[in-house]
Amino acid sequence: MTAPRIAILPPDVADRIAAGEVVERPASVVKELVENALDAGARSLDLEIREGGRALIRVSDDGSGMTREDVQLAIARHATSKIRDAEDLVGVRSFGFRGEALPAIGSVAMLSIETATDDGAGTRIDVRGGTLDGVRPAARRRGTTVSVEQLFFNTPARQKFLRGARSEWRAILELLHVVALVRRDIRLHVTHDDKEQLALAPAASLAERVHAVWGADAADRLLPVDDIQGSIRVSGLAERPSDVGLGTRRTLVTVNGRAVRDVGVIRAAEAAYRSTIPSGVRPSLLLELDIPGADVDVNVHPAKAEVRFRDRWTVERAVERAVRRALGTEDAIAAVGVVRGVPDAPVLGRPLGVDSLRQPMPAAPAPLFESTGDTAVAPADVDAAVEADDEIVVPPLFQFHRTYIAFERPEALVLIDQHAAHERVLYERFLHAFEGGEMPSQRLLFPLTLHLSPAEAEVFETERDALGKLGFEGELFGGSSVLVQAVPSPHPRFDAERCLRDTLATLTGDREASAHARHTRLIATVACKAAVKSGDLLAPDEMRALYLALARTTLPAHDVHGRATILQLGWGEIDRRFGRA
Ligand SMILES: Nc1ncnc2c1ncn2[C@@H]1O[C@H](COP(=O)(O)OP(=O)(O)OP(=O)(O)O)[C@@H](O)[C@H]1O
Ligand SMILES: [Mg+2]
Repeated sequence: MTAPRIAILPPDVADRIAAGEVVERPASVVKELVENALDAGARSLDLEIREGGRALIRVSDDGSGMTREDVQLAIARHATSKIRDAEDLVGVRSFGFRGEALPAIGSVAMLSIETATDDGAGTRIDVRGGTLDGVRPAARRRGTTVSVEQLFFNTPARQKFLRGARSEWRAILELLHVVALVRRDIRLHVTHDDKEQLALAPAASLAERVHAVWGADAADRLLPVDDIQGSIRVSGLAERPSDVGLGTRRTLVTVNGRAVRDVGVIRAAEAAYRSTIPSGVRPSLLLELDIPGADVDVNVHPAKAEVRFRDRWTVERAVERAVRRALGTEDAIAAVGVVRGVPDAPVLGRPLGVDSLRQPMPAAPAPLFESTGDTAVAPADVDAAVEADDEIVVPPLFQFHRTYIAFERPEALVLIDQHAAHERVLYERFLHAFEGGEMPSQRLLFPLTLHLSPAEAEVFETERDALGKLGFEGELFGGSSVLVQAVPSPHPRFDAERCLRDTLATLTGDREASAHARHTRLIATVACKAAVKSGDLLAPDEMRALYLALARTTLPAHDVHGRATILQLGWGEIDRRFGRA
């Protein structure tokens, strides 16, 4: 008889293997210990790290502490105070629930815990590579200090995979930044090799913590997000489109206070930036989702780094909407110097954001500019436009540099880039027309003949319907010529021939995958080519009309390439430069 080839592993070996799931590197130990401290109600954390956590990780808290009996249970597998049965897992709010972390850490390191509750005497317990090595009294005040030394001393294979101290430290610091942002209510003090690395007082808001952790620059680039959709609340910070790509990109997603990786949520948030930033650059996003506990399963990943939503689609739509709303608010406007919003004096004469989303484009948008004299454009119904916005008081406007429209408000000198602003206006109008609305177009008395290159003619042929919706009607003839019978009439100086030519030329060689992406690009291109240019002298009426039209867009602060349309120069900053403040 041959000996059986299969044998049950001795428990200490099995434990070390299981530990691999929880304890991958020093940063994962830090994560588990910090989460335990937070679960114990700590308000203040002190961390001491040595050699990137390879030599020492010590976490001291002022939480509940443990009694002598409890601390001995804490190091046993599946021992937890946080849930009692499987049902408690639904909607669990504590970080921990498995009862795995301390035994896992204890099986691959030298672990010691000193702890005391309010009324009990203190206890110290030592565990060496999975074996209990003494329980004795210890004097200390309420709270717990967990020390982990010589991580992976008994698992050489794991130890070999550790990076250098610097890189392990970086991973720890990154994790601690996340902790600091998620739990901005706590005090956090951290040293690495005796050098102070973080000293954070409790902060009142996420923005304040971002400021403390990543600096003023990072904080200034972010806009507040806060929106409730059904039972889902999405709050946090999203990068101002005009700043995207300029600094380090950072993302953080939390679900019910737990930091998770979630590509879907990030993608949904990025979708909200459509038409405000070039494709390819990606915004910084810090998003906090609050969802009823029953709608999310936290027990799907060994290190709890992912969650499963019962209805992912609804969650992602709520995220997209929340970010979209943030991008349409006053806060989204680019600024030089600190410009604090004055609630009763919105930049464009009406509150942006909420309202502009609730009442999107009027059914039949009026043409932007009044006809000024000798052009062949149909007379524009400017009165209608003004009437629709009679709650808006347009301030005196000035044109500078034939490029900017300037006006003043109590807090700032405001500049509008006439081309960028008009591009945003036309983009939204063309989009509206494209989706079935009406685009004022003008039948030409004398049709235009355009001689195109074969590639341009091909673009015309494929996009004929799409161009038709934007107001360009024409027929291809003789292979590569186009007879244009009708054109849109966005403003009196509009050069239809040039716009169509430029658009077709821009779109040749465009290999966008989906029809949707192609059309979005077509609309953006026509909007860009049709908009007034810098260098165009604008009449007072035209400036007024542009101001009103911009105020009615959903995302007034950005053109479709991620450039700002509006810039505020804070009077405070101007005073400072003149030495007045
Ligand atoms: N810093 C602490 N202060 C007070 N109690 C603690 C502390 N750390 C651990 N405990 C107690 O020890 C128990 C075991 O901790 P452990 O981290 O192993 O499991 P858990 O947190 O319950 O679940 P998980 O494995 O998901 O982290 C906890 O349930 C808690 O009761
Ligand atoms: Mg735990």
